[in-house]
Amino acid sequence: MSAQFPVARPRRLRRTPAMRRMVAETRLSPAGLVLPMFVKEGISEPQPVASMPGVVQHTRDSLRKAAHEAAEAGVGGIILFGIPAVKDGTGSAADDPAGIVQLALRDLASDLGDATVVMTDLCLDEYTDHGHCGILTAGGEIDNDATLERYASIAVAQAAAGAQVVGPSGMMDGQVGVIREALDKAGYTDIAILGYSVKYASAYYGPFRDAAECAPQFGDRSTHQQDPANADESLREVFLDLDEGADMVMVKPAGAYLDIVRRVRDAVDVPVVAYQVSGEYAMIEAAAEKGWIDRDRTIMESLLSIRRAGADLTLTYWATEVAKKLR
Ligand code: PBG
Repeated sequence: MSAQFPVARPRRLRRTPAMRRMVAETRLSPAGLVLPMFVKEGISEPQPVASMPGVVQHTRDSLRKAAHEAAEAGVGGIILFGIPAVKDGTGSAADDPAGIVQLALRDLASDLGDATVVMTDLCLDEYTDHGHCGILTAGGEIDNDATLERYASIAVAQAAAGAQVVGPSGMMDGQVGVIREALDKAGYTDIAILGYSVKYASAYYGPFRDAAECAPQFGDRSTHQQDPANADESLREVFLDLDEGADMVMVKPAGAYLDIVRRVRDAVDVPVVAYQVSGEYAMIEAAAEKGWIDRDRTIMESLLSIRRAGADLTLTYWATEVAKKLR
């Protein structure tokens, strides 16, 4: 053994912050972050979401301000969720031209211009009184094909109000295909579809259901969302959505499914999006509040890991904060 052993010393490239920055394989950028935002009908002040400290249900006004702030910080896009004042069995507020998301989209289109991309979540659970993502049969099951007709109509209403990208999240079979057809027929051939292609039936959505007031009143979502035990099935879902016309595909949740993010990234040639969901957000905020972890470092590490796994875009409730830090 030579006196110089070891010759290979990986620590040489880790010695200083400048050295580490220079050789970093993965970088975060504001344009790679998308901010999910909630807008609620009939409130006059923003309402804090108890299980998501720092997140609010916006009024139309506060949404405009926060969207402007996000755009200024350089976030790639925002995605809107609406909470109507009145819910019913078919979620009629979802495709009402005067529904809360459609009103908010019109506000943002005039405010933001091309400063950031405005997207929408396309689903029924925020709009139905039973909290399910679709139309129910008499027996209380989700009627896939009846639900598709509703999704097609919502897509056209959102596009007409100014959505640039629609994101169907209900996990109904055929949803991307019917939405593409409806958009094209209505003349919205340029509106893109972000498929929530890989969406697991996850406990990590808990806090979101407070934020969007959409917890199912009975049953759960495991007859349409994926079983966390499955990985190969995710590729099947992705390829079905691409065949039906999806322009981008999403994996959700992110942190517990990084293997899936990587497999999808390696399998497709469209942008791969990961959703760091409400439970991922809440766990870090809660542990940090207790002083058990370093909040800022944990947030950055969580986002870097999602990017390293292969996500081109990440939906995160920290998008504005992190984008500001990256600037
Ligand atoms: C459905 C939808 C959900 C989320 C995004 N879109 C809830 C669900 O499927 O139950 C969850 C997002 C999060 O947890 O942050 N409209």
